[in-house]
Amino acid sequence: MAITVTFSIQKGGCAKTTTAGIVSYILSQQHRVLACDLDSQGNLTELLMQTDIYDFHGRTILEAMQERNAAPYIHKVTDTLHLLTADDLLATFSS
Ligand SMILES: Nc1ncnc2c1ncn2[C@@H]1O[C@H](COP(=O)(O)OP(=O)(O)OP(=O)(O)O)[C@@H](O)[C@H]1O
Ligand SMILES: [Mg+2]
Repeated sequence: MAITVTFSIQKGGCAKTTTAGIVSYILSQQHRVLACDLDSQGNLTELLMQTDIYDFHGRTILEAMQERNAAPYIHKVTDTLHLLTADDLLATFSS
């Protein structure tokens, strides 16, 4: 059974991304975790992948949502921690 944990609050700069990254990593020590970066700033992507967010251009959570198929866009952080990345084009998403 999968459990979804969301880190979201309107206030800026209050450690949502930092907490999401740390909790994802800690949970991945005992569980399989798929972290989903849903912020067009791509800060969780930078934090977990330790690289530029544009390295994943065209292979992000935006494409996963547009195609309603996440599997091709999942990136591996570790064996048990995977990530759907984001960049600023996520702001163009329309359902
Ligand atoms: N416990 C902490 N102690 C000190 N600094 C922290 C702590 N947690 C987060 N920070 C720092 O606070 C800043 C904001 O954190 P973070 O980016 O996680 O916030 P956020 O809520 O995701 O921001 P945003 O609204 O821009 O998405 C960052 O520079 C981060 O390194
Ligand atoms: Mg953030």
